[in-house]
Amino acid sequence: MKTINFANTDVQISEMCLGTMMFGQRADENESARILDTAVAHGVTFVDTAAMYGDGLCEEILGRIIRGMRDQLFIGTKVMKSTEGAWIKESLNNSLKRLQVEQVDLYMIHWPHEGMQLEQMMSALNDVVVAGKTRFVGCCNFPTWLLAHCNNIAEQNGWAKLMCNQIPYNLVERGVEVELLPYAVAADICITSYRPVLLGLLAGKYQPGQPLPEDSRGQVDGRIVSWLDKYADGFQKFNSFAQDHGMHPAQLAVAWQRKSKGLSCPIVGVSSASQLDASIAAFDFDLSDAQYDEVTGFFDTAVKEESGGQFPNWRRSFSIVS
Ligand SMILES: NC(=O)c1ccc[n+]([C@@H]2O[C@H](COP(=O)([O-])OP(=O)(O)OC[C@H]3O[C@@H](n4cnc5c(N)ncnc54)[C@H](OP(=O)(O)O)[C@@H]3O)[C@@H](O)[C@H]2O)c1
Repeated sequence: MKTINFANTDVQISEMCLGTMMFGQRADENESARILDTAVAHGVTFVDTAAMYGDGLCEEILGRIIRGMRDQLFIGTKVMKSTEGAWIKESLNNSLKRLQVEQVDLYMIHWPHEGMQLEQMMSALNDVVVAGKTRFVGCCNFPTWLLAHCNNIAEQNGWAKLMCNQIPYNLVERGVEVELLPYAVAADICITSYRPVLLGLLAGKYQPGQPLPEDSRGQVDGRIVSWLDKYADGFQKFNSFAQDHGMHPAQLAVAWQRKSKGLSCPIVGVSSASQLDASIAAFDFDLSDAQYDEVTGFFDTAVKEESGGQFPNWRRSFSIVS
């Protein structure tokens, strides 16, 4: 597993980030410990969590299972829901208690929302850096203009800037290729991608026309059925390509991401340690340009706009900006 610089700093992080959203949910504490140990044994140091996951349970479990290895990890967590200044500080204090640490490495705003007070938010994020409760701050799900605008506010005030943006990115959701990834290269911002295997659809877990596996997120997440229907042909071609090239589909999905300039780390999320091997194998494998183009072409997802579908009202209302 290679290491890379975190944004424009000298701090080294693993090229793969371990997602822990399933800890305490589909993975119990023992399995979560096995997942963490397996990832660390492969050289993973970057670990992603959030106060929201399991309403704090995920951080509590992590707090217990990282004992003795805290110093070798780069841990990122996120504010619970709101972006209000006082809450940003309180939510971080709660996370530090649950994680049983004095400091995290990265503290992120989880979601933007209409009416958010940007100066207040950026000032509070600066305060937690100055107080030594986090080394760096960042965000998730921010469109490019909002990220740039927040960092202008930080620059004008001499405050800590957002160094990382965490976004959904995979063969089907490619909107960030329009603005965010080129901007990240220009501004040297760390971009981490969630949903790299599209909830299991790019891991060979679901087959078009077949019943959903009993023990799967497809049983509870309606997006899986709708994506499976919409891109049935693409998934079939994708799975055949993986089989023909002796690859696990998850390995192919993550290897495809690694070709994207501007993307720093895929966030690999699993519900068991045995699922990890396939994605980890992607970090020893480079797709050729021709293979990349062929795999991209399986899905009719030519990029037309940047993730606008997630926030349809933004087209008509810019009240998000304070
Ligand atoms: N900032 C945000 O807003 C945000 C949002 C979502 C996630 N995240 C972060 O991103 C991480 C990844 O998100 P995600 O879990 O939604 O990722 P994902 O890549 O879309 O899906 C992971 C799921 O795919 C299936 N899978 C993975 N590897 C597999 C394999 N080898 N074989 C078969 N199935 C496999 C598993 O489903 P089953 O459990 O059904 O087996 C697993 O739970 C999370 O842990 C979290 O840290 C951040």
